[in-house]
Amino acid sequence: MDMTTSRVDSAFKDDVLRCFEREIYAIPARWLYDRQGSELFEQITDLAEYYPTRTETDLLKRYSAEVTEMTGSNRAVIEFGSGSSTKTPHLLRAADPAAYVPIDISGEFLAHSAAQLQQQFPDLAIYPLEADFMRRLNLPDEVKDMPKLGFFPGSTIGNMIARTSVDLLRFMRETLGLGSQLLIGFDRVKDTDTLVAAYDDSAGVTAEFSLNLLHRINRELDSDIAVDQFRHVAVWNDLFARIEIYLEAQSDVCFSIDNRSFNLAKGQQIHIENSHKYGLRDARLMLRAGGWSPVCEWSDERDYFSLVLAKADAFKHAP
Ligand code: AVJ
Repeated sequence: MDMTTSRVDSAFKDDVLRCFEREIYAIPARWLYDRQGSELFEQITDLAEYYPTRTETDLLKRYSAEVTEMTGSNRAVIEFGSGSSTKTPHLLRAADPAAYVPIDISGEFLAHSAAQLQQQFPDLAIYPLEADFMRRLNLPDEVKDMPKLGFFPGSTIGNMIARTSVDLLRFMRETLGLGSQLLIGFDRVKDTDTLVAAYDDSAGVTAEFSLNLLHRINRELDSDIAVDQFRHVAVWNDLFARIEIYLEAQSDVCFSIDNRSFNLAKGQQIHIENSHKYGLRDARLMLRAGGWSPVCEWSDERDYFSLVLAKADAFKHAP
């Protein structure tokens, strides 16, 4: 096991033990994405009920040329949390970038998708960066002096509470620098039935995705949780404008993790994910709070999803 893996393992273990020891029943959503979790998420993106991926991909197909008219071509495109980079080709084709830097925490995924993109774009300079984009990071020297376009699709920002989102946007501004631009996807507030169905699909894939977190604990942390005693729960919290996802114990359960034993009472919920939804003005305010000025927006006919282009201007004093 290399250094990176053991470091990630201990952070995972700390987060999981904290949940059960302190009885603050929440585990950060980032741990949903091990290999199995990432594969299940890919399956989610194909579900009839899960509209975000399809809607955003259509927006990129339709409007990447317009985006490029606004940004100009020849920028270095920096993608935060590139994953499998499935939407990126639509942007890259139009943006004709000077370089592409996919950033992802999973080196394995990163190498694979960078290699695939290189085949599609043989002349493009690709500099994959294995890093946690939630922290301040150093871009490769090769792109340091290029004008930059950040790309943060998928409404990944929706996983974060507001203050974390603002921290991230500020990091991105520092990383990309003054004069850079950012193209970011926001999932929009819409009717509750549509939202709940997107996170509780009839085929049960999203439930499997959530329950995989318990399987992962069993796999990696020497644990024996009876996963079939838990169910996936997705609810809309209107006050926070977000879908909340929980794993709920269906009976009293006991299990051990790393030789420590825990009990959960029937009905106990473990909060494992938030997916925030935004009005356009919410999105604009969030961007400005992070130091980004909205420039242009593109939405589908139903206003299910929006792409927002913003730029990092020098701060001006309030009048
Ligand atoms: C990857 C955070 C955008 O919130 O829609 C999908 C994750 N979780 N179904 C989302 C997710 C359950 C997804 N994001």
